[in-house]
Amino acid sequence: NMSAVCVALSRNVLAIRNPGTMVMVRYAQTAAAPAPEPRIKKFQIYRWDPDTAGDKPRMQTYDIDLNICGPMVLDALIKIKNEIDPTLTFRRSCREGICGSCAMNINGGNTLACLNKIDSNTSKPTKIYPLPHMYVVKDLVPDMSNFYAQYKSIEPYLKKKDETQEGKDQYFQSVEDRQKLDGLYECILCACCSTSCPSYWWNGDKYLGPAVLMQAYRWMIDSRDEFTEERLSKLQDPFSLYRCHTIMNCTKTCPKGLNPGKAIAEIKKMMATYKEKKAAAS
Ligand code: SF4
Ligand code: SF4
Ligand code: FES
Repeated sequence: NMSAVCVALSRNVLAIRNPGTMVMVRYAQTAAAPAPEPRIKKFQIYRWDPDTAGDKPRMQTYDIDLNICGPMVLDALIKIKNEIDPTLTFRRSCREGICGSCAMNINGGNTLACLNKIDSNTSKPTKIYPLPHMYVVKDLVPDMSNFYAQYKSIEPYLKKKDETQEGKDQYFQSVEDRQKLDGLYECILCACCSTSCPSYWWNGDKYLGPAVLMQAYRWMIDSRDEFTEERLSKLQDPFSLYRCHTIMNCTKTCPKGLNPGKAIAEIKKMMATYKEKKAAAS
């Protein structure tokens, strides 16, 4: 029998009646929902272009409707770049807090744009600057050369006295020794901590800063590394380590929840023991 009868039972349900069968079909509501009120949020962003002669740093404001934007500050930046202003320049890669490249100063704090939720209060603008006290390459892109050179200077890799065995066997580590690296190896070298540290602001050329010092500590306490004393000896001068005054801005700002301030305090303890030992030997 071809005379199927459709009966509207309610707004969303049709009953299709055939002799002997009844099929309930839920169908999508076809009437368009009223468009939600736009939620316009202002983003005030630091701009500076070295390729435009005479360009001075300035703040530029962009309006974004939060209804059609992803939840994170990085989503807003990408939306601005894609849809409003392709000249806006910033670093990003992973968009999940792993690469460390989207570190910037958002509403007064250093953090990762991809892990930072947009403040949904549309009455307040979100202010975005590059990481503080760094040379700026362009817009939100800081010059990381000094930071990377400092990282290189601590020789952030496993060192053995006897290199003839290199590559022959694995270097084993007990479960307990491996656990000592927890809270240290997770650092993504984003530099949020170092660029929040007043000592690093004023002496960034000679003071290594919390990020690099925490990695120095990570290698000092690795049970497989045999250069702990040499690593300590390189930090004895008044600047490399001792410019840290335990202000703890670093630990407060770390977007990965790490504690570089504590690592520095541990190096200072190791250094005291090392100096006593050296004095006793001489
Ligand atoms: S604890 Fe040390 S490294 Fe961290 S912010 Fe303070 S002075 Fe800088
Ligand atoms: S300790 Fe935290 S803030 Fe500092 S570089 Fe590592 S991940 Fe970034
Ligand atoms: S994009 Fe990689 S940490 Fe933000």
